[in-house]
Amino acid sequence: SRGSSSTLMTETLQVLKEIVPPELQNPRVGIICGSGLSGLAASLRQSVLVQYEKLPGFVQSTVPGHKSALAFGLMGSGAGIPVVAMLGRFHPYEGHKLSSVVYPVRVMGAIGVKDIFITNAAGALNPALAVGTIVVVHDHIALPNLTGMNPLLGPQIDPSFPRFLPISDAYSRSLRKLVFHAAHQLSMNRDALAEGTYAWVSGPTYETPAEGRFLRAAGADVVGMSTVPEVLAAREEGMNVLVLSLVTNAVVIPASYKSVREEVETEIAGNLIEPVIDEKVSHEEVLALGKMKGDLMKSLVAKVLDLLPPP
Ligand code: 6GU
Repeated sequence: SRGSSSTLMTETLQVLKEIVPPELQNPRVGIICGSGLSGLAASLRQSVLVQYEKLPGFVQSTVPGHKSALAFGLMGSGAGIPVVAMLGRFHPYEGHKLSSVVYPVRVMGAIGVKDIFITNAAGALNPALAVGTIVVVHDHIALPNLTGMNPLLGPQIDPSFPRFLPISDAYSRSLRKLVFHAAHQLSMNRDALAEGTYAWVSGPTYETPAEGRFLRAAGADVVGMSTVPEVLAAREEGMNVLVLSLVTNAVVIPASYKSVREEVETEIAGNLIEPVIDEKVSHEEVLALGKMKGDLMKSLVAKVLDLLPPP
């Protein structure tokens, strides 16, 4: 298959061949789980775990709340569909090269994955998105991509890949529709599911208020530090992409700064000042929300799997 000709890839595929039973070696669906959402992959049946440390080319996931293994198994009702799930993903902010971040997606391409489902935790820029909402991503804004941080930079890893990959249609319309069908079948609240644009930032810092305003003004609904590199590699590999963002917190975007001059002038006049409340996002609340909504995300993904058209 495409992109699988390097020596490194040959070695990785060899390890998988030795560990994974033949009937699970060529999964149709790939899954990447975000912060606190790896319970999704725990629901695989007949699952076989391959620790990343056994896989050439895989780096280690260093983020609390992320595990470090590829899970092969069956998911969905009936006989189920063979899937491969990453428990724990890699981020550029951990110091990994973009090529390392997307290497697992290359492996998925090499073993025949056709559809990739990616989940992540994200902050809401759109005030209409309540914490706990699952956002079906239909587009992205990736400032790093526009400024020289793109996983597809460099020599083409496969001559059959287009040099200039169009990504105007990166997020499969038919997969997005399946999510809304799945939500209907699960009798999900209408508000529990939304559509939106994901802003990818490199992290590891969260946004300043001005950056939050900037991304919102640019048209983004949610913001996070993952996913887009994997989406680009998956599109290059020819996969259909589905991205679900779980809103774990609201990015508080004050309309303007509370002027310190005004505050000092108020103090000098001897009048009472209103305390400034500084709300901060924390990784703990991100993880906690993932745990809370993990089951819902799991049922949604399982239902989408059931609704996939036959290959
Ligand atoms: Cl507020 N920002 C970013 N960049 N990533 C997040 C987040 C916020 N909340 C969850 N992930």
